[in-house]
Amino acid sequence: MKNNPKSQIQNRDASIAVIGLGYVGLPLAIELSKKYPTVGFDLNEERIKQLKEDIDKTLEVDKKELNETNITYTTEVKDIVDCNTYIITVPTPVDKYNNPDMEPLASASTTVGKILKTDDVVIYESTVYPGATEEFCVPILEKESGLTYNTDFFCGYSPERINPGDKEHSLKTITKITSGSNKEIADFVDQLYSSIVPVGTYKASSIAVAEAAKVIENVHRHGDPDRSPCGHGNPAYCGAPEGRPHHPALQHRVSHAHGRREPAGHAHHSG
Ligand SMILES: NC(=O)c1ccc[n+]([C@@H]2O[C@H](COP(=O)([O-])OP(=O)(O)OC[C@H]3O[C@@H](n4cnc5c(N)ncnc54)[C@H](O)[C@@H]3O)[C@@H](O)[C@H]2O)c1
Repeated sequence: MKNNPKSQIQNRDASIAVIGLGYVGLPLAIELSKKYPTVGFDLNEERIKQLKEDIDKTLEVDKKELNETNITYTTEVKDIVDCNTYIITVPTPVDKYNNPDMEPLASASTTVGKILKTDDVVIYESTVYPGATEEFCVPILEKESGLTYNTDFFCGYSPERINPGDKEHSLKTITKITSGSNKEIADFVDQLYSSIVPVGTYKASSIAVAEAAKVIENVHRHGDPDRSPCGHGNPAYCGAPEGRPHHPALQHRVSHAHGRREPAGHAHHSG
């Protein structure tokens, strides 16, 4: 690699674009901007106009903090072409049949893919099914850029674990799960988040394990804890050390993401 991302962090010359400035992206961009040059990119012109006036209608960040930040807010792709680290925090809603709507992730990946350069790192934070980053997003990045994954450019996944409106548990007070597409990038992603999350990070063994940990936490949070597929509130525990979440469906997805195609029936009985 020409620009070793690890040394980018050590030398503090990571240049970051946060794509999607909602509940998750704005607080993240604010914290990153205290340490790194940071551009906040969003398609919503009204949102960008308000942020330039220090107004956050999600009420996650107050006016004083917005006033003190030196983020560049933009709707223009030309303002993020010189960045070397892209963090994608766009929505992943479900449709009326509870199927995930992947369109925002496809659109953001297309935008980034068109401007991707050798040695760039793309980190996804949106909540996705295990395997989505490498099965769904990476092919879009490769197609749009003409570059090769894990040779020319690299990826990470670090799920956001906040709840909207919860001021007690925030980006800075919840252990951040990190992961990367190889060992060096996993270290880079982990160092990046360690530098802005005082309570620290948990480095998962793979992108798919980090994705699965987030899904398990959501099922646990929104369902009956006694019937949770995890049975344990700590996603780090769920995804590690064997990298095998307890829920049969997730086991299947993770196996699939690792290229170990097991029949669903087998996964179903493996506990
Ligand atoms: N809200 C939360 O507390 C929370 C917690 C954990 C995880 N998440 C996950 O984080 C992700 C983001 O959620 P959110 O609540 O911040 O969403 P949000 O709807 O508040 O904000 C998303 C922003 O992305 C912008 N956007 C959409 N498509 C875009 C594109 N192609 N390019 C640039 N910008 C684009 C939208 O205009 C919007 O401002 C989702 O996957 C969500 O499931 C959210």
